[in-house]
Amino acid sequence: MEIPMNPMFTSVRVGRYMLPNRLVMAPMTRSRAAFDGTPGELATEYYVQRARLGLIVTEGTQPSDDGQGYLTTPGIYTPAHIAGWRKITSAVHDKGGHIFIQLMHAGRMSHPDNTPHHRQGVAPSAIAPGAGMFTATGMQDIPTPRALTTEEVRRTVAEFSHAARSAIEAGADGIEIHGANAYLVQQFFAPSANTRTDEYGGSIENRARFAIEVATAIAEEVGADRTAIRLSPGTALWGIDEGAEGPDLYRYLVAELDKLGLAYVHILHQSNEPLLADIRKLWRQPLILNRPGRPRGQIGADVASGLADLEAFGQMVLANPDFVARLKADAAMNESDPKTFYGGAAKGYIDYPVLSARTDTSS
Ligand SMILES: Cc1cc2nc3c(=O)[nH]c(=O)nc-3n(C[C@H](O)[C@H](O)[C@H](O)COP(=O)(O)O)c2cc1C
Repeated sequence: MEIPMNPMFTSVRVGRYMLPNRLVMAPMTRSRAAFDGTPGELATEYYVQRARLGLIVTEGTQPSDDGQGYLTTPGIYTPAHIAGWRKITSAVHDKGGHIFIQLMHAGRMSHPDNTPHHRQGVAPSAIAPGAGMFTATGMQDIPTPRALTTEEVRRTVAEFSHAARSAIEAGADGIEIHGANAYLVQQFFAPSANTRTDEYGGSIENRARFAIEVATAIAEEVGADRTAIRLSPGTALWGIDEGAEGPDLYRYLVAELDKLGLAYVHILHQSNEPLLADIRKLWRQPLILNRPGRPRGQIGADVASGLADLEAFGQMVLANPDFVARLKADAAMNESDPKTFYGGAAKGYIDYPVLSARTDTSS
């Protein structure tokens, strides 16, 4: 017996695609790639299991050696990466799914032990985040990064567009730029991490410039209707403080990005409801909303109210490969196990139980 979950089970246009429902798998790092950044063999099964969501956004994927922060995260800038991702995208497509690769440059959230070239991390400014990071030899302090020169900032933009082109070659339906959670793009936004005096630091316009240039470059490379961005206005992780001007920076940034006609903006919501309402008004393309820890009973409320066009879920999808079937059947959800989030193999990755055939309404 299906419980109607309208309007989550109505179709929606996102960029050049018509998605069958408004449920999105939020991007989640799982640290199970090979040391050269090629996605692991089990990743295909992991994503295929979740192909019934309207859209899969992959784990954060680095656009370059410098862009890697954590251990064994995948990349998308070499022929081996492209071949690895192609297996995943084609298997997801065979199941009727859609998949955007999230491009994540970690910036200063990086440890040299985790990257292929073992170099010092790069960032807007030489300011350490004041945080630790897991490495092959355990937790270590993150060292002070090296500030990118102006020329290197431009080269980093070019690395993003090369990675976007590689993602499309690998069969991805599009690219989500990771502009959230204290990584490189957000490091440019925050005066606590960006004390630059060139055109990428100082005023709101200057601090937003890197994000806008990355989005513009990728849109030119693969089409605006295959380009998207994730933002987390107000995130205060790992030394990131956007200051009193933060909300105004996002109003400016979203209005500028809106002009590009991107596929969607993905908001990882913190707590500023008036800012979220402003973003909704400033943005004419689809808006994906992720509210951390959203209770099961609230799924669909933001789409119903018109605040969002799609809703993204992380841990619930991680722990429930048959998330869509469970929602439709109003069945209980598995709990996620944080011990198996990062690294390891099949356990906690592709072995979460699905509903029995008797109650599973999927076909
Ligand atoms: C294991 C794990 C890994 C994550 N990795 C990423 C990531 O690579 N990129 C990203 O934008 N967010 C990442 N997130 C954040 C999620 O996308 C999401 O915003 C967060 O889990 C809150 O939503 P939820 O309560 O529905 O899980 C991660 C979350 C988890 C639990």
